[in-house]
Amino acid sequence: MTNPADMEHATTLPAATYSDPEWFERERHAIFAATWQLAGFRTQLRGPGDYVTHAFAGFRILVVVNGDGALRAFHNVCRHRAGPLATEPHGHCQVIICGYHGWTYDLDGGLTRARDFGADDFDPEEFGLLPVAVDEWRGLVFVRVSPHGPTLLNELGGFAERCADQPVESLTYSQRLTHTIDVNWKTYTDNYSEGYHIPFVHPGLHAQIRTSEYRVDVGDGFTEHRVPTRDGATASGVWLWRFPNLALNIYPEGMNVERWIPDGPRRTTVIYDCFVADPAATETNAEIVRLGVAVLDEDQRICEQVQGNLESGIYDRGRLSPRHENGVYAFQTWVRDAMDANPQDASAGSSSKASEFTQ
Ligand code: FES
Ligand SMILES: [Fe+2]
Repeated sequence: MTNPADMEHATTLPAATYSDPEWFERERHAIFAATWQLAGFRTQLRGPGDYVTHAFAGFRILVVVNGDGALRAFHNVCRHRAGPLATEPHGHCQVIICGYHGWTYDLDGGLTRARDFGADDFDPEEFGLLPVAVDEWRGLVFVRVSPHGPTLLNELGGFAERCADQPVESLTYSQRLTHTIDVNWKTYTDNYSEGYHIPFVHPGLHAQIRTSEYRVDVGDGFTEHRVPTRDGATASGVWLWRFPNLALNIYPEGMNVERWIPDGPRRTTVIYDCFVADPAATETNAEIVRLGVAVLDEDQRICEQVQGNLESGIYDRGRLSPRHENGVYAFQTWVRDAMDANPQDASAGSSSKASEFTQ
C-alpha cells in the first residue's frame, strides 16, 4: 500500500482525475458507494420516526428510527417515479410520504398505500424502499450504499482505536457550518493531508504552532496529524482523517466532525459539526469556531486556485515531498487502489482501469 520507499519517486494523480466526469462517475461507485459514510448523529435519531437525510456523490439517503427503535436506512427515492421522500436535513415523521403522488411507506420501508393507483396486478411488497446498510459508532451514524464490505468497526480500524480514550459521547452538539467550494473533493483532501502549505496559506495559524515539527502519521486507511504549539505544548486530543472524506478533531474544549461531500467533479460541500465540552464557555467556543472558519476560508481560496490550474490543460502531474507529503501520498495511493479494485463498478459504461490514468 503506502511503502515510504515508493514515495521517493512518487508523482501526483494526473490532473484529469480532478475534473473528468467519467472518472468522477467511477469514484462514486468505487469509493463513495463502497465506504461507510457519516450520515448523522444518534442525538438526531432518538425515537421512532426521527430521521436524517444525507446526500453525497449523487446518492440520496434517508436514515430513520423504526417502531422498535432500530436504525433503518433507504435510498431517499420513491419507488413509483423517483419522487422526493424526506426533504429536510432532519426531522420527525409517523410514516414516509412521497411529495409527488402521495405513496406512503412505513418506518421499515414497506409500501403501505399507493394512493388511488387502480392496477389489479400490483403487489406493494415489490415496491418497498431500497435499503442501504446502516450502523453506529459512538453516536455517529454511518451508511453504506454497497451491500458488500467490512463492518463499520472493521473499516474504521485503527481510527476508532485512536479515539478509544476520548470522551466523544459526553460532548454537546453546538452547531453546523457548511461551505460549498468549487473544487474536486480530492483537491480539498490533498490540501488537508499536509502541513507544508501552512506558512504560506495560514500565516495566523503559523504564528501559533511549530510548523517545522508538523507530522502526519499514516495508519490503515487513516492519518493522524500532530503539531506542537509555539510554547512547546502538545495537544492532548487527537486529529484524525479517515479515507475518503471524514475528519475528527478532538481537543480539550470539544470536537469538530468534518466531512467533505462531493457534489460533482468540480464541487464539494464541507460540513463541520461542532461539539463542545462546556456549553457555558460561549466565548472560548465561539473563538475556536472563528479560528476554524478563518483557516477554512484560506484553504478554500488556495484550493479553488489549484482547481482552476489543474483544469488548465497545462499541468499534468507533480512530485510529492517525502518530508512533508506522505499523507497526500497515502491518500492518492488509496484512491488508485480503490479505482483499480473496482474497475467494473461504474454504471456509466467505462471499463477502463485506473492505471490507464495513473501510469
Ligand atoms: S413518485 Fe412518489 S408517489 Fe409518484
Ligand atoms: Fe490548510
